[in-house]
Amino acid sequence: MSQFQEGYLYPWRSEIGNRNGEDAFIEVLYQHLTPTTVALDVGCADGRLTVDVATRCARVVGYDRVERFIETARKRAMEASLTNCDFVVGDANPRYETVTNSLVPAADNTFDLVFSRRGPLNYIHDVGRVVKSGGWIVQLNPAYTPPPTWADQLPSKLFVTNMRAERFGILESVAERLAAANLTIHSHWFFDVPERFFEPRELYAYLVWNFLDNPPYSFDELRKPIERIFRDHTTSGAVEIRHRRFLWKCLVNR
Ligand SMILES: C[S@@+](CC[C@H](N)C(=O)[O-])C[C@H]1O[C@@H](n2cnc3c(N)ncnc32)[C@H](O)[C@@H]1O
Repeated sequence: MSQFQEGYLYPWRSEIGNRNGEDAFIEVLYQHLTPTTVALDVGCADGRLTVDVATRCARVVGYDRVERFIETARKRAMEASLTNCDFVVGDANPRYETVTNSLVPAADNTFDLVFSRRGPLNYIHDVGRVVKSGGWIVQLNPAYTPPPTWADQLPSKLFVTNMRAERFGILESVAERLAAANLTIHSHWFFDVPERFFEPRELYAYLVWNFLDNPPYSFDELRKPIERIFRDHTTSGAVEIRHRRFLWKCLVNR
C-alpha cells in the first residue's frame, strides 16, 4: 500500500490493484501543469508530491496543519536544490473563526491550479479567492466503501470510520462546499479497487491503524476471527478489502 500513497506510509504490507484513482489523479494533475503554472498543494504532508510538481511548473506552495511535515517538506526541497517551492503551516478550517486559521494561507488571485491528494475539504469555502479566473481545482478523496461481507465476524468498533462516512457521500459533500463558494464540479470519477492482504497480521495492522498507539484489541485477541476470515474468504491467496476513491475537478470562472 505504501508504494501508492507516498508521503503517508502505512504499517502493513498489501497489494492494491492498478487504476486505483491514485494514478488517475497524477495523470489529471500533470495534464494541468505547464512551465508557467503557479500551484497550491492543500494538505501537502511531507511535500513528496509538491516537490515533484515543482519540477514541472513555475512555482508551487504547499501547506499542511502539521508543522513537523512542513519542516520535512522544506528540507526535501532544499536537498533537491529547488527554489520554486514554499511550504507554510496552515489550516483553512472555517470553524476556527480566526483570520489566520480560517483562510487558505495565500493572497487573492495567486494560483492557476489548486490540488490536493487525499487532503482536507475545509479549504473550499475560501478557495475561490486564491484561484485566478480560469484556474482549476483537482482533488482526490477516499470515498465510502461498504464493509466486506466478513465484517460482522469482527468487533463493530473496527468499522466505525466507514459507518460515519456512509451518512454523507463524498460527492454530496464536495458539491455542497463548492456551491457555498459559488463553484461547481466540472467532472468527477469514482474508482473501486481491491486491496489484498496475504497474512493475518497485516490485516490486523490495517484494522487497528486508525486507533494509532491505542489499539482496542491485541493481535492475539483478534487472532481467531481473523484466521477464520482467512480460512473462509481467501481468493487467489489473499483476503480483499475494497477501496473507493473520488477524483474531481472544478473550473473557477468569475
Ligand atoms: C492523507 S494525507 C495526504 C498527504 C499528501 N497530500 C500526499 O498525497 O502525500 C492528508 C494530509 O492532509 C493534512 N490535513 C488534514 N486536514 C488538514 C487541514 N484542515 N488543513 C491542512 N492540512 C490538513 C494532514 O496533516 C495530512 O498531511
